[in-house]
Amino acid sequence: MHTKEKILDLFESNKGVYFSGEEIATKLSVSRTAVWKAVQSLRSEGYEIDAIQNKGYSLSVNTDIVSPQGIQKYLTHTCDTVKLHILQKVKSTNALLREQADAGSQEGHIIIANAQSDGRGRFGRSFFSPVDTGIYMSLLLRPVELSPEQAVKITAMAAVAVCEAIETVSGKQTWIKWVNDIYCDGRKICGILTEASLSIENGSIDYIIIGIGINVYMPQNGFPEEIEQIAGAVFDKKKDDAKNLLIAEVLNHFMGYYKENANYVQEYRIRSLVIGKQITVLSSSGDKKAFALDVDDTCALIVQYTDGSIEHLSSGEIRINLL
Ligand code: BTN
Repeated sequence: MHTKEKILDLFESNKGVYFSGEEIATKLSVSRTAVWKAVQSLRSEGYEIDAIQNKGYSLSVNTDIVSPQGIQKYLTHTCDTVKLHILQKVKSTNALLREQADAGSQEGHIIIANAQSDGRGRFGRSFFSPVDTGIYMSLLLRPVELSPEQAVKITAMAAVAVCEAIETVSGKQTWIKWVNDIYCDGRKICGILTEASLSIENGSIDYIIIGIGINVYMPQNGFPEEIEQIAGAVFDKKKDDAKNLLIAEVLNHFMGYYKENANYVQEYRIRSLVIGKQITVLSSSGDKKAFALDVDDTCALIVQYTDGSIEHLSSGEIRINLL
């Protein structure tokens, strides 16, 4: 780690606490000039660092800039293997991580961006990803012995982890619209795009990329017209360190389920917006009316069509019928 990263580590773990230039220099075995330079550089990146004579420097508690240091301080041991890479703006964190996965990146490799110019949603849609107000992250997994049909499990695990993280950080109740849209106060606040690469030899999963987009705050100029009736944000006003904490909590919850193979299905069911509702199953071969009975232990949606037949859907899209 360079001096700047080390200082950020110290500041992020002690927000609002003052450290004299000399104290920092001694702690990190660098010169006071190096400390001053690093502080200036952090300020130029937007960090609010207060300086008071005879007290020293302190990082403002209001700062909410995503950084490995800012996230790391909240991570639990379940995330020991994650490697965080933070970027300002990318086309799509999923697309970039896919390139890196093809080049051999390991499980636990994570890309987080502050904005996306070509954020991708499900079914070829785009995902609105304006600067500073959202979390756009992709996580690489290389699960052993997971069939493509079981991949829905990973998406569902991620949905539960996001819900639990948002509930912990905001105190609000969240809901899941099968399979992976997260709602809060009646609005979609998060979408998840899971992409898998299959081995040509035996059709097994080579890697999975989980892309998570969370609208943390309302975008400065609002949402685009086509989603303004649906989309919402977790918070209506700034909250200290919310993005770093939310990212860490998503990872803590997700890695807990993934590594310990813990049961997330009950948590998924109790947040379901769909179970017990009349729905339409959307498909290119024609939409079909159905009743959502339950989700099974792999998080496939059990639906009963109007002709009485029952199907377990492990992927696809549904619409909830209002009447
Ligand atoms: C959806 O709602 O259809 C899924 C949206 C998924 C968006 C996230 S943002 C991070 C990652 N990178 C992308 O390009 N997409 C996913």
